[in-house]
Amino acid sequence: MSHDQFDAQGRLQHLLTLADLPRPTLLGLLDRAQQFHTQPGAAVPEYDLLAGATVVNLFFEASTRTRASFELAARRLGAQVLTLDMAFSSTNKGESLLDTLYTLESMNADLFVTRHQEPGVPETLAQHSRPFVHIINAGEAHVSHPTQGLLDALTIRQHKKNFEKLSVAIVGDIRHSRVTRSAVQALTVLGTQDIRFAGPAELLPDDLEGEKFTNMDKAIEGTDVIMMLRIQKERMQAGLIPDEREYSRRYGLNVTRLKLAKPDVLVMHPGPMNRGVEITSEVADGPHSVIREQVTNGVAVRMAVMATLMGK
Ligand code: CP
Repeated sequence: MSHDQFDAQGRLQHLLTLADLPRPTLLGLLDRAQQFHTQPGAAVPEYDLLAGATVVNLFFEASTRTRASFELAARRLGAQVLTLDMAFSSTNKGESLLDTLYTLESMNADLFVTRHQEPGVPETLAQHSRPFVHIINAGEAHVSHPTQGLLDALTIRQHKKNFEKLSVAIVGDIRHSRVTRSAVQALTVLGTQDIRFAGPAELLPDDLEGEKFTNMDKAIEGTDVIMMLRIQKERMQAGLIPDEREYSRRYGLNVTRLKLAKPDVLVMHPGPMNRGVEITSEVADGPHSVIREQVTNGVAVRMAVMATLMGK
């Protein structure tokens, strides 16, 4: 699939995917995000880079982190922000997605942040939006979650210097995971070759290259980074949903299992977590966990993406 995310001058106009993002563009976004990074507890700087701009959040699927961080990021850049409650929008009266776009464009919205359960929605919006409008994919079915991929890469880069030497294990429901697909795209651009996938056979992907394991212990042996994923029940047919206790026994990350990885391993999770299923609280809140750093980086990455798209 071709992604028209660059304009005629070669500038990034939309962020739809990391799949065809050139390495300098990706590194530029990470550098920019690092500049916007603010430690929790520090005073939050306010910018006027998006003063006069209007950002609209169109989330057709549930979200805590992504939606909140886009809203905060836009406000911290000085934009006006509208977060539509899609449960009460006129899409429930049959209004199409494109008519929703045209309606809000007519109110001078500049930037749309969208999450949708159907593949292809961000690209469709980008193809039909006016030339001055920017579309950001904030989660597209099982396909793509590019700002999550960027924040994952930024978090790893803050701890590990050489992406080419990293061993990364991604564990859980990989088949339904847009987080995995965007993380793999980012890691591949940055030079990581050793990316392993672990989970029950029925939740392993057909479309991703990399070593696949049904034995989690083998997958995480000697790794630098372990990304844990939740089971996405909302994207599964009933028969695929595993028994939680058995799943946790085979694929849950606990302190004993963690010892199989390198002593300085990073534990990541995009959230939301199901504590006690794919990860114990001891690990999620333990010294190897960078899960809250991922959340902090999410705001910085979204500031960087919006400022870049708006040419600021
Ligand atoms: N990681 C992530 O996308 O979290 P939310 O679903 O809470 O936005």
